[in-house]
Amino acid sequence: MSKPKVILTRKWPAEAEAKAQELFDVVLNEDDHKMSVEELKAAMQNADAVCPTVSDFQINEEILGVDGRTCKIVSNFGVGFNNIDTDAAKAAGVVVTNTPEVLTDCTADIAMSLLLTVSRRVGEGERLVRDKQWDGWCPTHMLATKVTGKKLGFIGFGRIAQAVAQKAHFGFGMEISFYDPYPPADEVIKKFSATQLDTVEDVLEGADFVTLHCPGGGSNTNLMNAERLGMMKNSAFLINTARGDVVDEPALVQALKDGVIAGAGLDVFAKEPTVTEDLLSMENVVLLPHLGSATTETRVAMGLRSLANVKAFFDGDEPGDRVA
Ligand code: DGY
Repeated sequence: MSKPKVILTRKWPAEAEAKAQELFDVVLNEDDHKMSVEELKAAMQNADAVCPTVSDFQINEEILGVDGRTCKIVSNFGVGFNNIDTDAAKAAGVVVTNTPEVLTDCTADIAMSLLLTVSRRVGEGERLVRDKQWDGWCPTHMLATKVTGKKLGFIGFGRIAQAVAQKAHFGFGMEISFYDPYPPADEVIKKFSATQLDTVEDVLEGADFVTLHCPGGGSNTNLMNAERLGMMKNSAFLINTARGDVVDEPALVQALKDGVIAGAGLDVFAKEPTVTEDLLSMENVVLLPHLGSATTETRVAMGLRSLANVKAFFDGDEPGDRVA
């Protein structure tokens, strides 16, 4: 029996590509270019499975609805799947899967890195040294904000958020509060001595740091708007490792300029890879190029997980990570 034909839309780590070649008749993206909409449509017409990523054009109704589509499963390389219109996929009868769990710890590490880097002015200090502008130690030089023991508020308290809470609560003695419309089991809440709050606003008002862990798109678009940013303490920091569209970027820039909040640590942006000149010019922000899952171990694991979903599907089993 011939192997299913699988198209990877971007270059994957070598170990994951080798596994794909072992399991399937695979088409790799050797030069790692961003596929055009036309190329994505052609992939739908030429493959049994397509494995896209967050940085592709959205797999939408137009792409899924192309004439002569042979693709039966879209297996995302990533846990967030706002790059796929799942309603359109359902309507077209195309299965969608993602890659949860394998990137939890590394993404949480980046959230903690942002929190520490922005509050302790690490990026700013490093720039000072590299620019040969450091005059030496003195008691008032580059005073920053202490992290240990502070209040950390979560918008969304799923797997990645809980991994952040693990590090922040047990490593830095931080007090945890959260809002999540789908709260975790009581034992999880007890483990972190966390306070479950009824609204996003309740979290914002009390926190020294606010960290975002909700999906992007839909009703979460611009969730952190001017009004909500205004509810944060002006000494507080905003951390975003979720999706850029959860934050109204012009409102954030204004809030940072006006001292409405103290700073922000961002791994994701509204229009990646574009980062506004305003943000680039500010010292009280830390800006990372969507590094959440970017370790070799995790990116290999994401690839293997995506392939496991494709394999289960063509073996006639329910893929473990089906989201549509
Ligand atoms: C994810 O997996 O959602 C990461 O943000 C990369 O897509």
